[in-house]
Amino acid sequence: MTGFPTVRLRRFRRTKGTRSLVRETRLSPERFVAPIFVRHGSGLREEISSLPGVFRVSPDGAVAEARELGKLGVPAVILFGIPERKDDVGSEAWADAAAVQETVRRLKDSAPEMVVMTDVCLDEYTSHGHCGVVCNGEVNNDATLPLLAQTAVSQARAGSDVVAPSDMMDGRVGAIRRALDAEGFPEVAILSYAAKSASAFYGPFREAADSAPKFGDRRGYQMDPANRREAMREIALDLSEGADAVMVKPALAYLDVIRDARERFDAPIAAFNVSGEYAMVKAAAKNGWVDEKRIVGEILTGIFRAGADFVLTYHAREAAEWLADRSLPL
Ligand code: PBG
Repeated sequence: MTGFPTVRLRRFRRTKGTRSLVRETRLSPERFVAPIFVRHGSGLREEISSLPGVFRVSPDGAVAEARELGKLGVPAVILFGIPERKDDVGSEAWADAAAVQETVRRLKDSAPEMVVMTDVCLDEYTSHGHCGVVCNGEVNNDATLPLLAQTAVSQARAGSDVVAPSDMMDGRVGAIRRALDAEGFPEVAILSYAAKSASAFYGPFREAADSAPKFGDRRGYQMDPANRREAMREIALDLSEGADAVMVKPALAYLDVIRDARERFDAPIAAFNVSGEYAMVKAAAKNGWVDEKRIVGEILTGIFRAGADFVLTYHAREAAEWLADRSLPL
């Protein structure tokens, strides 16, 4: 056995060049997906207070944002909608004239190479803030499925490339696949939020979308954060129902789940570096407590090292800029 002093691992750590040669995980904007919040209007750009640097924009603003992301090498966006009106079933989710659908059409016209993903869920659209139809104080699984399927079809009709169900109803991937195929959209892919935990890390998103549940919480349908084996069952089921790619969400407290998924499945794996993860970095950086660029570089590297193929992250734009101007310290 060869060891010290023959072996010195520091030799390849000495310079930027040697470190670069042996780096095992590389950051690239080609693996980022940027979330965009859209609402009706024009010229609208409202900063979300708990997500500094993230805005609610009107469709024209989303197009401008997507163009800039494209120039930076970010290939994909995921759209979340802020409705004009909420109701108890979330009917604006599947309205062809809603902000998300309108934005998809515009993006497909003016930035055709951009991959457009759309979040399929009802919580932004329901008056009670839950992800499905509420019956007797509980979210009813099977009554929700046709509404999710209808939402996905409406998004596909607008031109969405990838629909991403985030509701955690059982059987929704199958219901969405059947509906897409029946309506003539066999080419539209499904990215399933397969292993999504009931998490406090979604706090800022709920402020952004005004989608916090008005009663109770989401523990009756989102996963218990403690369950690693169950996460594998969720992923296996979604793949068997026809998911083209699966997601682990949140990312940072769940890196072991990403790694397990990578080792068990050959399907593409996404991770969502969620709103609370972003907000914590921004708050600490604003106070001068952490070095933002280095923290972001390390966080994204960690998620890829754990095994994700691509990452949904609010840092997408800035991280892509830092990679482009080589200011990300590596
Ligand atoms: C549901 C949805 C949520 C997020 C993505 N899709 C919120 C939730 O489940 O409460 C959270 C994303 C984030 O926190 O960045 N439509």
